[in-house]
Amino acid sequence: MTKNKVTKAVFPVAGLGTRFLPATKSIPKEIMTLVDRPLIQYAIDEARAAGIGEFIFVTSRGKGALEDYFDHAPELENALRRSGKHQLLEVLERTNMESGAIAYVRQHRALGLGHAVWCARHLIGDEPFAVMLPDDVIAAEKPCLQQMAEAFAETGGNMVAAMEVPPEKTSSYGVLDIGDDRGALVTVKGMVEKPKQQDAPSNLAVIGRYILSPDVLGNLNRRKTGAGGEIQLTDAIAEEITAGRKVYGYRFRGQRYDCGSKAGFLQATVAFGLARTDLHDEFLEYLCQIMAQQKAAL
Ligand code: UTP
Repeated sequence: MTKNKVTKAVFPVAGLGTRFLPATKSIPKEIMTLVDRPLIQYAIDEARAAGIGEFIFVTSRGKGALEDYFDHAPELENALRRSGKHQLLEVLERTNMESGAIAYVRQHRALGLGHAVWCARHLIGDEPFAVMLPDDVIAAEKPCLQQMAEAFAETGGNMVAAMEVPPEKTSSYGVLDIGDDRGALVTVKGMVEKPKQQDAPSNLAVIGRYILSPDVLGNLNRRKTGAGGEIQLTDAIAEEITAGRKVYGYRFRGQRYDCGSKAGFLQATVAFGLARTDLHDEFLEYLCQIMAQQKAAL
């Protein structure tokens, strides 16, 4: 069991975030908030639930706000304590990270997700590690990475989170060529990054959660460019299959929101807003009102 334990997670956050320009000119995408918590906080909470204790951020220029977010805020905490705002203090304290638990490395040029993960190689070392893309936010009873870590404890190898997408959407994802389909777990025979609908081996797509063996870093050492001229993580994982090592797809239980896209971000805002007991009634009433107005205008 302990052999397949994962304690480190890499958060590649060095992308340009062009779909959210002009906001991302000065705000890292990962700091944008769903209700009142930045995207990155959802990812950190999910990682913690899976037993992750070391958090490696691959950042780039202009991501200072992200590093500040993880600093303790003693003045603010004292002010809240003095004014008796204990609930808010608790909210704030829950975001505190243990000193030394976070490390930052820079990706000097946005050469692709595979390259971003490769930039963290010295901090990862020779052990399995998780990769989490914070713009994929997953609402789930048991957090997605925890589901995967439990499955990985049994299987080892490499594991990617997978979900069925409409066939016409495969060109936006890494897509799995499925071997043995065991329900939640599938063995993977091949992986293709962003295939056209007619070339896609299935409609089971990879989303932003991975548990990988350090061999993948060896594959990334070759720094081969793939789809879109970028160094693709999918290609480095697919090389594991060619080398005769195991890659599994894991159909997680939960609802994934693509917060890297505007429509996905808005959907997540509605879902997370409605899920909040302090906002639910007022927000639902408002949504019903505007729905009625929209219908009447049709
Ligand atoms: P995206 O494909 O969403 O790219 O990257 P992006 O730059 O963040 O956003 P758009 O498409 O321009 O709007 C997926 C994840 O990979 C990271 C991103 O930060 C994001 O978490 N990434 C991507 C890197 O860290 N480095 C890269 O070179 C590319």
